[in-house]
Amino acid sequence: MAVREIVPGIYAVGAPDFDRRLFDSLIPLPNGTSYNAYLVRGEKKTALVDTVDPAKELDLVTNLVKARIESIDYIVSNHAEQDHSGSLPMMAELFPRASIVVNEKSKDLVVRLLDVDPNRLLVVRDGDTLDLGRKTLRFLITPWVHWPETMVTYAVEDRVLFSCDLFGTHYADSSLFMEDEREVYSSAKRYYAEIMMPFRTNIAEHMQKLKDLPISIIAPSHGPVYSRPEIILSAYREWISDDVADEVVVPYVSMHGSTEKMVGHLCEALLERNIRVKPFNLPSTDIGELAMALVDAATVVIGTPTVLFGPHPEAVYATYLFNMLRPKTRFLSVIGSYGWGGNTVEVLKGMVTRVKPELLEPVYIRGAPLAADLKKVEELADTIERKHREIGIHA
Ligand code: FEO
Repeated sequence: MAVREIVPGIYAVGAPDFDRRLFDSLIPLPNGTSYNAYLVRGEKKTALVDTVDPAKELDLVTNLVKARIESIDYIVSNHAEQDHSGSLPMMAELFPRASIVVNEKSKDLVVRLLDVDPNRLLVVRDGDTLDLGRKTLRFLITPWVHWPETMVTYAVEDRVLFSCDLFGTHYADSSLFMEDEREVYSSAKRYYAEIMMPFRTNIAEHMQKLKDLPISIIAPSHGPVYSRPEIILSAYREWISDDVADEVVVPYVSMHGSTEKMVGHLCEALLERNIRVKPFNLPSTDIGELAMALVDAATVVIGTPTVLFGPHPEAVYATYLFNMLRPKTRFLSVIGSYGWGGNTVEVLKGMVTRVKPELLEPVYIRGAPLAADLKKVEELADTIERKHREIGIHA
C-alpha cells in the first residue's frame, strides 16, 4: 500500500490486511483490518509512531523505502500488543540509532514480549514531549485501553492524535480517511464492543483528559483516519454512557425445540409490548454481532436447555463473554427447559461476577413448554416492560 500524506510531514506508512478473518483466534473480522503506522518528520528528527503486525512487516519496510527514510530517531510504542509492536524488533535493527519510546508500564512488556534491548528504551511520563523540530510529540498515558500499558501520542502543531487501539476499527480500506460514515460507525461499534467495552470507565476518564485538547485528526492504529473526529468521539460518548436502550438481547441455543419455542414466545411477547428484541441463535451467531447488541440493551435473557447436568456449552460460552465484556446491562434472566434434573440456572448465575445486573425470575421448566409455561414467559415479558418503564426507557 502506498505512503499517504495525512498533513504535511505526517504520513501513513502501515498496511491494510484485507484477508484477515479472525483476530486473537477469537474475534471475527468481516471487513479485515489494518495495522496503521505513522511517520512524523520534523525539521531535525523523525519518529515512527507504532509499527505493524509481523505479517505485514515487509509492507512497512517497503513504505519506509518509498518515503526515502534514511534514519529514524524515535520509534514510539503506544501499545505493546504484537499487531502494533510486532515489527518493532526489525525496525530497531534497521534503525540502530533509534530510541524506542515507551512508558513506565510498557517498558517491561516490550522487553518481555519482543526481546528488545532495554538500553534502547526511552521512558516517557504523562505529558512529556519530544521536539522533532517544528513538530512536537506529546505523550498521554491512557492505561487500560485495552492493556495496562496503553498510551496515545499527540502531534501538537498539527493537532493529530495517534490513538492506537482507542477509536480504532477493524476495517480494511484503500481510502486513507473515513468515507462511508455508516459502515465505519457500525464497524467501530463492533470494535468497541469486542475490545473496549470492558474498560468504559477508563475510557470515560481518558476522554475527559482529551476534552480540552484541540484535535483536528484522529489517526488510530486500526481502520480509517478520522478527519472529522467528532463522529467517533460522539459515538464513544454514547457507548460509554450509562444510558441503556429499550431493548432485550436473547442469546439462545436449543436442542429439540423446547427452548426455541420459549424464546420465540418471549420475542413475540416483547414485540407486542413495543420492546425491541434481538435473538441470537448461538451455534450460528457471529459473536461480534452479539457483542454489538450488548453495548446498548437494557436486558439480556439467556436461553438454554440443560445438557447432562448444566447449561449447554454454547450458553456457557455466551455467558462467559457477557461477564468478561461487562456491558451496562441492567436486567438479566434465563429461560429454557430440562429433561430430568441439573442446576443450569445456578451455574449461569455463578458465572456472572464482573457485572451486577438485577436478576429477573428465570423461567426454567421441565420438558416441552405447555400453556402454563408460556404464560410464565409472558409474565417475564411483563416484568421486563415494567422494569424498563421504571428506569425511564419505556413509555
Ligand atoms: Fe490492536 Fe491491542 O492491539
